[in-house]
Amino acid sequence: MEKIFTFISKNLDDTDIIASKFSKVILKEGAFVCLYGDIGAGKTAFTKLVAKHLDVKEKVTSPSFVIINEYLSGKMPVYHFDLYRLEKEGVRTIVDELMEYSRPNVLTMVEWAEFSDIELPLDRIEIKIEYVDETVRNFDFYAVGEKYEKILEEMKS
Ligand SMILES: Nc1ncnc2c1ncn2[C@@H]1O[C@H](COP(=O)(O)OP(=O)(O)O)[C@@H](O)[C@H]1O
Ligand SMILES: [Mg+2]
Repeated sequence: MEKIFTFISKNLDDTDIIASKFSKVILKEGAFVCLYGDIGAGKTAFTKLVAKHLDVKEKVTSPSFVIINEYLSGKMPVYHFDLYRLEKEGVRTIVDELMEYSRPNVLTMVEWAEFSDIELPLDRIEIKIEYVDETVRNFDFYAVGEKYEKILEEMKS
């Protein structure tokens, strides 16, 4: 796993800018993305903004009670998972299904992927979000696999 860059977001507008850049670099091929961070870090907020920049028309809501939400109205399908309620045992039962969501030309965003104690044998982007204060967040972007290294490198320019 390669750390590609860190972005300090001073407020939600900054996060919107990085979500916009992110939506552009993943547009060509799609991406499988794991989001890490405590409750309130901004995993759902980031996903909402990325969906907005992909022109998703539906209201994007947290999938914490339903496990997955899917949005098909934008430039590419967006699948938004939150594994928190499944906990480790439940996640084991859906790992195969989760892998199917790593197919090309879709965007899959997974909150609480740490509940899959099985190492996901997948090329993927990992985004670690850290709460600094009420409006400030630290975003660390990691790539697993060459394809995603290249995609994230594009975000730096
Ligand atoms: N710089 C920022 N980036 C992202 N979210 C922020 C930022 N500053 C404040 N927030 C707020 O933090 C909260 C994050 O909540 P949420 O996205 O639901 O967290 P999580 O999904 O990680 O539990 C939102 O209310 C959001 O508006
Ligand atoms: Mg959330």
